[in-house]
Amino acid sequence: MSSSKLALKFLSQKDMIAAGVTDMKHCINMMDEAFTLLGKGDYVMGGSTRNSHGQRVWFPKEPQFAGMPKGGPDQRFMSLPGYLGGRFRICGNKWYGSNVNNPKNHGLPRSILMMTLNDPETARPLAIMEANILSGMRTGATVGLSARYLARDDSESLGVIAAGPISKYCTTAIVNELPSLKKVVVFDINEEAANKFCAEMSAKLDIEVVPVSSFADAVKGQDVITSAISGDHTPLFEDSWLKEGSLLTLPGRANVEDDFLRKAYVVPDGWEMQKTYKIEGLMLPEDERTIPHIQLHNLVDSGEIKESDIHDLGKVAAGLANIDKNSARKKYFISNGMILQDIAWATAMYESAVEKGLGQDLVMWDEPYLV
Ligand SMILES: NC(=O)c1ccc[n+]([C@@H]2O[C@H](COP(=O)([O-])OP(=O)(O)OC[C@H]3O[C@@H](n4cnc5c(N)ncnc54)[C@H](O)[C@@H]3O)[C@@H](O)[C@H]2O)c1
Repeated sequence: MSSSKLALKFLSQKDMIAAGVTDMKHCINMMDEAFTLLGKGDYVMGGSTRNSHGQRVWFPKEPQFAGMPKGGPDQRFMSLPGYLGGRFRICGNKWYGSNVNNPKNHGLPRSILMMTLNDPETARPLAIMEANILSGMRTGATVGLSARYLARDDSESLGVIAAGPISKYCTTAIVNELPSLKKVVVFDINEEAANKFCAEMSAKLDIEVVPVSSFADAVKGQDVITSAISGDHTPLFEDSWLKEGSLLTLPGRANVEDDFLRKAYVVPDGWEMQKTYKIEGLMLPEDERTIPHIQLHNLVDSGEIKESDIHDLGKVAAGLANIDKNSARKKYFISNGMILQDIAWATAMYESAVEKGLGQDLVMWDEPYLV
C-alpha cells in the first residue's frame, strides 16, 4: 500500500540546469514524443473542448480599483493545465505572469513561470519547478521540431525577427536541426539587442550570425524564418518576400497574406486548440477580442482552405500527414504553445532530478488531516 505521507520535489533554476534543462537536442526529441502523442490523440487539455490553451487573467485597460494592474500588450497571467499520455502518463500545470516592461523597469525577464506535475490517478503533487528556462526551451525546441519536419534539407540561411530570449532558444534549436545552415541574419527594432544577440549566438553556435537593418532584409530570400516579437506591433510577412520552398515558423505574432495561406502547407501546433481559441475569443467583448490566426479561420469558414488540408505538427510527427518538405511549396508553422510541451520536458527534468538526487523535498503532510 502506498504511504499517505505527501512530499514533493522543489527544483530551483540551479537544480533545473543541473538536471539538464538546457540540453536542446534532448528537448527537441522530447517534443517529438509529445507531438506524436498529440497526433495520436493521447492527451487532454483544459476547458470544455479539452483543447484550451489555458485560462487567462486579463487586467482591464482602465481598472476601476486602486492597486489593480492596468492591462496592456503581453501583460497577463495564464494557467495551462493538461494531461499527457503514452509513457508520460502525467498531469501538469504551468502558471506564469508576463509584463513587457519587466526588463526595463525591474531587471526581471518579461515572463516568470512555474510548473507543477501531478500523478493523474491520485492527484499527488510530484514536483514544483522553476520554469523560465523550461518554457523557453520547449518553445525553441518545438520550432526546431518544425524545422526537422518542414524545412528543406538544403536550407542554408535563417532569418530571425526579434532578438529576445525566445528567439535565442529558437535559433539554437533550428541550427541544431539543420546542419546545412551557413548563415543567420537578425533584425530587432532595438539595434543594441540585435548586436548582443549576434555576438552571443555566433560564439555559442559556431555559425555566422549578423544583424540586418530592416525587417524585409531578415525575410527576403531566407530558407527558414522565425519571428518572436513582443509588444503591440504585428509585422506583415509579404508573400513575395518569402522564398519558394521556405519555412516560416512563428512562435510569435505576425500577419501574412491570404494568398500565402491559400498556397502554403499550413501546420499549426494543434488545430483543435486553434479552433478553441476562436470559440473562447468570440465570447469576449468585441473591443477586447483577440483570436490568434483569425485570418486562417476566416479562410476555412469561407471554404477557401479545407480543414482537411491543415495538418498539426502532431499529425506530421506521428506519420499521419504527408508533407513534402523538399518541395517548392512554402511551409507555415504556427505555434501558440501547448501545455503538452511543458509536461514532456518537465517530466524529463523531474526524472533526471530524482536520478541525480537534485532539489529539495517539501513535506506537505506526514498524515493527511481528515475531518
Ligand atoms: N509560441 C509559444 O509557445 C511562445 C512561448 C513563449 C513566448 N512566446 C511569445 O514570444 C514572444 C517573444 O518573447 P520574449 O520572451 O523573447 O520577449 P521579449 O520581450 O523579451 O523580447 C522580444 C524582442 O522583440 C523585439 N521586438 C519588438 N517588436 C519588434 C518588431 N516590430 N520588429 C523586430 N523586433 C521587435 C524587442 O525589441 C525584443 O528584443 C512573445 O510575444 C511571447 O508571447 C511564444
